[in-house]
Amino acid sequence: MARVYNFSAGPSMLPEQVLAKAANEMLEYGSSGQSVMEMSHRSSVYEEIIHGCEALLRQTLNIPDNYKVLFLQGGASSQFSMVPLNLLNGSGKADFVITGQWAKKAYAEAQKYGQCKAVASSADQTFSYIPKLDPNEFTKDADYFHICYNNTIYGTRFHDLPQTGSVPLVADMSSCILSEPVDVSKFGLIYAGAQKNMGPAGLTVVIVREDLIGRAREFTPTMFDYKIHAENGSMYNTPPTYAIYICKLVLEWIRDKMGGLEKMAEYNRKKAGLFYDYLDSSDLFKGTVVKEDRSLMNIPFVTGNTDLDKKFVAEATAAGFVNLKGHRSVGGMRASIYNAMPMEGVEKLVEFMKAFEAANK
Ligand SMILES: Cc1ncc(COP(=O)(O)O)c(C=O)c1O
Repeated sequence: MARVYNFSAGPSMLPEQVLAKAANEMLEYGSSGQSVMEMSHRSSVYEEIIHGCEALLRQTLNIPDNYKVLFLQGGASSQFSMVPLNLLNGSGKADFVITGQWAKKAYAEAQKYGQCKAVASSADQTFSYIPKLDPNEFTKDADYFHICYNNTIYGTRFHDLPQTGSVPLVADMSSCILSEPVDVSKFGLIYAGAQKNMGPAGLTVVIVREDLIGRAREFTPTMFDYKIHAENGSMYNTPPTYAIYICKLVLEWIRDKMGGLEKMAEYNRKKAGLFYDYLDSSDLFKGTVVKEDRSLMNIPFVTGNTDLDKKFVAEATAAGFVNLKGHRSVGGMRASIYNAMPMEGVEKLVEFMKAFEAANK
C-alpha cells in the first residue's frame, strides 16, 4: 500500500492511527457484535460514543459550562443561514468582515434575514491580508459580528479578535478548529465543518453560548433551530453517527499521540514554519499572503508563471504529493497542512520543491 501525502483543503488527511483503529473496529465495535455504522443512535453503546466525543471536545477546547456543543449536519454552509435565523432577532442587524469566499457567502446568506454590514474587506487585494478593523465602524446594537477565522482558500487568519464588546462574536472555524487552543469564552458561537481537522465530511460542530439559544425567528425550520438540537442532545433526528465516532478517535489521537492541543499547536507552527521558511528563501516559489496574516493550515503559493505552476502540480502529483492545485480564484498552488499532515509530509514536499526549483532555473 502506498499512501499519498494529501494536501487537499478538505476533506483531507486523517491520522493513520485513527484510520487503523476504525478499520480494526469496523466489523465489531467492542463486544457489541456490530459496526458503529449499524448501531441505533439511541442505543446505550452509541450514547457512550457521542457523550465521549462531546466530553473530549469540551476538555480539548476547554469549553465553558455555559456553552452547548451540537453535532449537526448540513456543513458549515448551513450555518450561514442557521446563525442569522437564530441570532438575528433583536435589532435585526449584523456585522461581517469580508476576508474571502466563505465570509462573503455567510454575509450574502444573512442579508436575506436582516440588515447586514460589511465593516471591512480585503477584496481589493484578492483577500491576501486581514483588513484592519475600525471599531467606530461596528454596529453598536448588532445581534452578532461574524468572522471567518481562517480563510481556507486565501491562506489568511485572524491573529487578533475584533473587540466587539457585548455584541456576540461568531466565528467560522472550519479550517482551523483543533489546530491550536482558543479562548471559547470570547465567542458567542463557533461553527466548523468537520472534514478538515475533526473527521470525515457529514458532521458540523456548533459551540454556542446558552443565552443565544431559544430565540430563533418564528419562521425558522425546526431542523434549523439550535434549541431543538440543544434540548435533544443532538438527537432530534439521526445524527451523523459514524462521523461523530471518528471525531472521537481524532480527539483521542490529539490527546494521546500528539500530547494535547498546546503540543498540537506547536507541531503545526513547526510544520508551517518549515514551509514558509522555504518559500521566503526560494527564488522560484512565493507565498501569496502578507506575512503577518499567514495561516498555519492553508498555504497558497505561486511561481508567477502559470505553465510552470501546472508542470509543478503534475510532477508533484506523480511523486505522491496530491491536491496541490490552488483555488481557481487565486491560481497557482495551495498546500493545506491540517493537523493530520505529518511533519515528514511537509519535509518531503519541501525537498521536492527544492529539486524542482533547481531543475527549472
Ligand atoms: C472556512 C470555510 N467555511 C465554510 C466552508 C463550507 O463548508 P461545507 O462544505 O461543510 O459547507 C468551507 C469549506 O471548505 C470552509 O473552508
